[in-house]
Formats: sequence, structure tokens, C-alpha cells
Amino acid sequence: MRFPTVRSRRLRKDRIIRNAVAQTTLDPSRLIAPIFVTESGREPEPIETMPGLYRWPLNDVADHAKEIVEGGVDKLLLFGIPLNKDEEASSAYKPDGVVQKTLRILREELGERALLMTDVCTCQYTPHGHCGMVVKDRRGSWIVDNDRSIKVMAKIALSHAEAGADVVAPSNMMDGVVGYIRKTLDDEGYSDVLIMSYSVKYASNFYGPFREAAFSTPAFGDRRSYQMDPRNAEEAIKEVLLDVEEGADVIMVKPALPYLDVIRLVKERIPYYPLAAYSVSGEYAMIKAAAKMGLLDEKRTLMEALHAIRRAGADVIITYYALEAAKILREGLDFF
Ligand code: PBG
Repeated sequence: MRFPTVRSRRLRKDRIIRNAVAQTTLDPSRLIAPIFVTESGREPEPIETMPGLYRWPLNDVADHAKEIVEGGVDKLLLFGIPLNKDEEASSAYKPDGVVQKTLRILREELGERALLMTDVCTCQYTPHGHCGMVVKDRRGSWIVDNDRSIKVMAKIALSHAEAGADVVAPSNMMDGVVGYIRKTLDDEGYSDVLIMSYSVKYASNFYGPFREAAFSTPAFGDRRSYQMDPRNAEEAIKEVLLDVEEGADVIMVKPALPYLDVIRLVKERIPYYPLAAYSVSGEYAMIKAAAKMGLLDEKRTLMEALHAIRRAGADVIITYYALEAAKILREGLDFF
């Protein structure tokens, strides 16, 4: 394999050749669109930290969801923003909670045209904003109680299943939460509901814009006692193995761009489970902000980032850019 017999540049000569030999593909079936639904108000509220996105009221959410599905993205991940918060996170599992209502509206409107997925967590539903139940420990410090939290998580997941969710996505990183939810769903007759677990969720600063969007910033402390340490990669394998043993159908790494090595590691070691990558609010906000300042070409940067996440090993990508990306892909613009 020596110059001048092998000239790598021949395979890069024009777009048709480059497309023919490209080692990564992306089409809209690989994208999942998050939707924020708010229980208050009647008008979509712009999310300041995530330009171009809105908190959708119940009366408008169906139209927004239809626009996404008609744009080619058929998997929707719902995040609820409730009117009331309490210590028990009770508005997260009540039958007429914001997510439960949205599920019924969307099923009515979309039938089987979309896969309805729900984020299962307590942080938007409690005044303290933690992803579980808070108690005082033996030393007198406030902590998130693992075993009480997973019971509440199972209640939330069950209420989502009852309201029509196809996929529940527990995002609080409690030990045993996947197994507890799986058993609860199975016992109640929902063995067909999938679990997409936020298996490898880092304690990341890239969630900042989301917490503003969903009003879920912890009132005290932080999430480092449950989310993973950004310095660890191998630990991801332990988290994934536990989740698949407990019955997760789809595993996830989150965030995506700063953790491409972790996506690759998980895909290589556990290739037989579908892997999702969550390109989080901070990733979205960085591209938006840089594009707004004229520092980056938004569409090209976005396409490069999404292909990079796929190349690292993600089967599906959760991205706030899902609808825009689907449009760009349909237009078939010449990016590579
Ligand atoms: C809820 C949850 C969070 C995100 C998804 N689910 C917030 C957090 O863990 O603080 C973040 C998503 C994003 O930043 O886009 N636990």
C-alpha cells in the first residue's frame, strides 16, 4: 500500500464517490425529539436558554407533535412541567398529570404514527428539584434515598404506561430502578412497554439550559451523589450491565458530544443492545449561540455533530434539533 499506487484522495474526489463509501449513515428514523409540555398557560412559552424551543401548553401540544411527525420524526420524548410541586412528587404519577394528559391527547391525535416515550423522574415535580425522595441520613445530612425513590419512579412509570406510553425512560440513576420498574410494569400487565434507561448519565454542566427550561435546578446540593463522575469511562460498563440484567431494552449514554469515547466503549463491549445517545441542552445551546454570533455554520456543524455521534456507536440520537435535522436530511443538502 504505497504511494503512488494507493492514492486515498481518489475516494474523496467528488460527492457521489464520498457518499458511496461513507461509513456512517443518518436518517430521521434514528432521531428522537424531546417535547416540553407545561400544565400552565395557553400559549407556547419560548425557552430563553434554548432558542427556538418552547414549553407547549396542553391545548397546543398535539399540533406541535403533528408537525414533528409530519416532518419525519416519529419518536417523541415527553417532559412534563407541572403546576404544583410537592415532597412526594405526587403530580408526577397522578392519572391526570401533565404527562398523562399529554399521552392521551397525542394517542388520540396520532394513533400509531408516533412512538410515545416519557422521561420518568421526580426533579420537575419536587420543590427541592432532586431526582428522588430526600431524607436526613444518620449524619444529619439531606440525601436522596435510593429505595424510596425507586418506588416512586415505578409509580410514575406505571401511570405513564396506563396513560398510553410505549416507552418509559427512567432518568434518575438510582440503583435498581430499572428492575423495580420492570417488575411493576409486568405485574400490572404492561410487559409490552419498553424501558429505555438513562444508564450512563453523567453529572454534567451541559444540562444547564434544560434545568432553566424545566424548572428542575436542585434547590440545594447537586446531583453528584447519583449521576456519574465525568472522569470515569469504564464505570459505564458496570452501569449498563446492571441495567440490562434488570431488564432495560435500550441503554443510553448522556451527554453525547463530550462523551463520544464512552459511546464507543459501550457499543464495543455491549454491542447487542440498542444504544441511544442524548445530545443534551448544552450541546444544542452551544451550536445555537455560536451560529447566532456568526462563528459557526449551524446546519453544517449540526450534521457533522450528529454523524459523529452515530459514528461513535449510537443507534438512535435524542436531540432538540430532531425536526430541523430531519428537514435538512430530506433536502439532501451537500454537507460532506
Ligand atoms: C431529568 C433530566 C435531566 C435531563 C434529562 N432528564 C436533567 C438533569 O439530570 O439535571 C437533561 C437533559 C438536557 O440537558 O437536555 N432528570
